[in-house]
Amino acid sequence: MTQPYVLGIAGSPRRAGNSEQLLDALLGGAHDAGAQTRKLVPAEMSILPCSGCNSCTLTAECVLADEMSSVYAEFDAADAIVIASPVYFAGVPGTLKVLIDRMQPYWARTYVLGTPRPARRPGGFLLVRSSGDPYGFTGAEHTIRSVFAVLGIDVIVEEKVAGLDEGDDIGRRPDALASARAHGVQLAGAARGR
Ligand SMILES: Cc1cc2nc3c(=O)[nH]c(=O)nc-3n(C[C@H](O)[C@H](O)[C@H](O)COP(=O)(O)O)c2cc1C
Repeated sequence: MTQPYVLGIAGSPRRAGNSEQLLDALLGGAHDAGAQTRKLVPAEMSILPCSGCNSCTLTAECVLADEMSSVYAEFDAADAIVIASPVYFAGVPGTLKVLIDRMQPYWARTYVLGTPRPARRPGGFLLVRSSGDPYGFTGAEHTIRSVFAVLGIDVIVEEKVAGLDEGDDIGRRPDALASARAHGVQLAGAARGR
């Protein structure tokens, strides 16, 4: 049986912070359940913002030449994808949003060019935020669900943890880390069975 591949996107520009620790717990669970795992950190990659040129609606490809070519390859190869992110001003950090906007060629293939959709895959998200914000997780969650819809990813695991400020605050939430790990086990199983 081939090993399922679970891809994690660490959406925070702060390395080893709350969302990345949750992601590491999830990927650790997936690994221990037999999956191959990999983590991409958009903030440390050279990714240009989508220019809105719409070339992808004609060619199905992005005209920009940068590190997104390796991101596209990983997204195409993954059996399951999970995005971990903090809430920034009700949305996701700009570095993650730049990567998400560059998924427009998948939208063009599905909704303009009618290219057959790849098989649906399981996925999920891990969101963290501070507190005292009236907008909560809504904006960030909708952004991630929107791109997952275009990519044909079914959200089967989700976790939202509020009240985290400093980068190691998640250490006070062993319950959340254990839950993320269990999500990884679940995702590996779903990725294997797809
Ligand atoms: C630029 C910036 C914007 C933020 N905006 C929000 C917000 O709108 N709502 C919120 O609850 N927390 C907000 N936060 C707090 C982060 O979501 C919180 O510190 C989170 O735990 C950071 O996760 P990380 O450690 O994975 O980077 C913001 C933090 C930064 C740096």
